[in-house]
Amino acid sequence: MRHLMNPLDFTTEELDRLFDLANDIEKNPAKYAHACEGKKLATCFYEPSTRTRLSFESAMLSLGGQVLGFADASNSSAAKGESVSDTIRIISCYADICAMRHPKEGAPMVAASKSSIPVINAGDGGHQHPTQTLTDLLTIRSLKGRLNNFTIGLCGDLKFGRTVHSLINALVRYDNIRFIFISPEELKVPDYITEMLKEKSIPYEEVIRLEDCMPQLDLLYMTRVQKERFFNEEDYVRLKDFYILNKAKMEPAKKDMLVLHPLPRVNEISVEVDDDPRAAYFKQVQYGVYVRMALILTLLEIQV
Ligand code: NCD
Repeated sequence: MRHLMNPLDFTTEELDRLFDLANDIEKNPAKYAHACEGKKLATCFYEPSTRTRLSFESAMLSLGGQVLGFADASNSSAAKGESVSDTIRIISCYADICAMRHPKEGAPMVAASKSSIPVINAGDGGHQHPTQTLTDLLTIRSLKGRLNNFTIGLCGDLKFGRTVHSLINALVRYDNIRFIFISPEELKVPDYITEMLKEKSIPYEEVIRLEDCMPQLDLLYMTRVQKERFFNEEDYVRLKDFYILNKAKMEPAKKDMLVLHPLPRVNEISVEVDDDPRAAYFKQVQYGVYVRMALILTLLEIQV
């Protein structure tokens, strides 16, 4: 039995197979509409989410399966003091697969160690968000036709953003990727990431202004300042509008650059950018459903 805790749990060959499956699901949805009949997905969300939880639910429903779960820890037995280890043992009796989001880093891993069903990490604290990374990689592969040879700018909250940490982790396995980290001093990417890049001799730069690197980018990954992980409101207020991508800032960018964002967006991308053909963040949401469908089939070992 396999779980998904980290995007690196799959080899790049396994990821290619997963993305091929996701692309086939996109082209032939009817072929997969009954693939999970009789199967249940539990979504255990101890932290707020709209996209990830509904994306999992939509994926399972599109496969003909059913869903159950909770979206708020205060409504679950966690409020009575139940441990994640006990909860997953219970959920293992009710469902065939579980997607878990938790504010504590490593909680889904603890759950997986006690689980008799596959567990998917749907985001753990500031640590990893593997299904968002699968979504990002599928979007890039589908729209750019490749996962190598590009310069990617990651902009915003690189300190607390788990989507950023997960994506960097996954991209270092592909050839000729160059990273440009765009953040204020206070929200720089953690040292363990830059150390890892140095060790692997992967080129990266750190800049403060978006304008300083725009023409070089093949991909721009924007992120929200992670309010819930700040220790004080004052710092959040000072940093929240540090970056606002607008039409004028898009001007010097390559004509085929893609703008990605895991969403939710706050102010960091002005709505006027939504109509730019380079804005790919709403397409990304759709790819998120296809990749989760492919993941559920893969972890449940269902062949169509
Ligand atoms: C992200 C997350 O939860 O980390 N959202 C998502 O799952 N698409 C990004 C964020 O909340 O900023």
